[in-house]
Amino acid sequence: MHSPYLRTAAASVIALVCGAAQAAMLGGELDPLEVRPTLVQPQLSLPTKLTEVHVANPGEFFVPPNVADIPDDKYGDLVRMGRNIFVDTQNYAKRYVGNGLTCQSCHLQEGRKPYALPIWGAFGMYPMFRNKTRSVVTYEQRLQDCFRYSMNGIPPAIDAPEMQALVAYSHWLSRGAPVGVELPGRSLPGLSRSEDPSPQRGEVVYATRCAMCHGPQGLGQKVENGTRYLFPPLWGSDSFNKGAGIFRVRTAAQYIKANMPLGQGFTLSDQESLDVAAYIWIQDRPKDPRVSYILDFLLPRTGAP
Ligand code: HEC
Ligand code: HEC
Repeated sequence: MHSPYLRTAAASVIALVCGAAQAAMLGGELDPLEVRPTLVQPQLSLPTKLTEVHVANPGEFFVPPNVADIPDDKYGDLVRMGRNIFVDTQNYAKRYVGNGLTCQSCHLQEGRKPYALPIWGAFGMYPMFRNKTRSVVTYEQRLQDCFRYSMNGIPPAIDAPEMQALVAYSHWLSRGAPVGVELPGRSLPGLSRSEDPSPQRGEVVYATRCAMCHGPQGLGQKVENGTRYLFPPLWGSDSFNKGAGIFRVRTAAQYIKANMPLGQGFTLSDQESLDVAAYIWIQDRPKDPRVSYILDFLLPRTGAP
């Protein structure tokens, strides 16, 4: 580039290209993390109201604060973002999700419902010893595991904005809950069993009590425009992987017993819940990321530790 004219021309080309790229960035889709969050309203057509938890006996369970009472400050912004991630993980933490689920697919009613692994029952219990990792884990590490296994995705770093938002949401939802105490309704209810779980019997339970929502093939049903699930898949490539806690037949049965069919928790017997969990367990789903493809093929059902 010898002539000053050429140099100017080159400079303007560079300026043009940069300008165009910048315009494209500004005009294109905004990063959801950069936008002041408003509350998303997911899945309005579900048969149960999402934020309302039915109270049979007042005082029986901890009552988390109302969404409308999230404070109007920086803390509130982070809490709102965390809630959006929780109920619409697909959009708000897309880069960490590897299936069709949201946190709320399992942690029902925005993480509020007793006996559906409520977040207010969990937050104050960490750091906590876990058998799965044989170590004392922090709350953030626990969240990372749900991304890795239940969401079949990539765990966000401790200081990722998505992680900080989820922790803030959990912190807010647990406001006023005692710390280090097993609250009633925490996690899942206990279960007794008389016979071994039978997938054959479970298939019948599935067809009569579950298939109308989760589909005859267990692959769930998407909303009209086909982008996300109204009824989440129970198996197949868009479901949780074989390392997930809910892949364990017992855990799945406890979950199903208390919460499914949706809106009719505690209507299946313990045995029916175990049977249908066993039927779900024998279906195809993504492998446990800790297991190689060869091992997954040879020993297809490792089960979660
Ligand atoms: C496929 C169902 C499923 C999905 C989706 C899921 N989880 Fe979980 N989660 C579970 C189960 C089951 C457990 C309990 C596991 C166990 O007992 O080993 C759990 C445990 C937890 C715990 C600890 C609960 C306690 O009482 O100690 C937290 C916190 C949590 N999940 C947060 C999340 C977040 C945040 C997301 C979304 C990024 C998410 N989970 C997605 C099923 C799920
Ligand atoms: C009325 C519809 C309906 C029926 C019937 C129903 N479910 Fe669900 N189920 C749902 C919805 C909706 C969710 C997710 C909740 C959310 O996203 O808020 C869910 C979530 C689940 C989950 C956790 C998420 C996942 O994808 O793994 C399991 C497991 C499950 N259901 C099992 C069952 C079983 C087993 C039955 C039959 C005994 C059943 N469900 C019957 C609507 C239903």
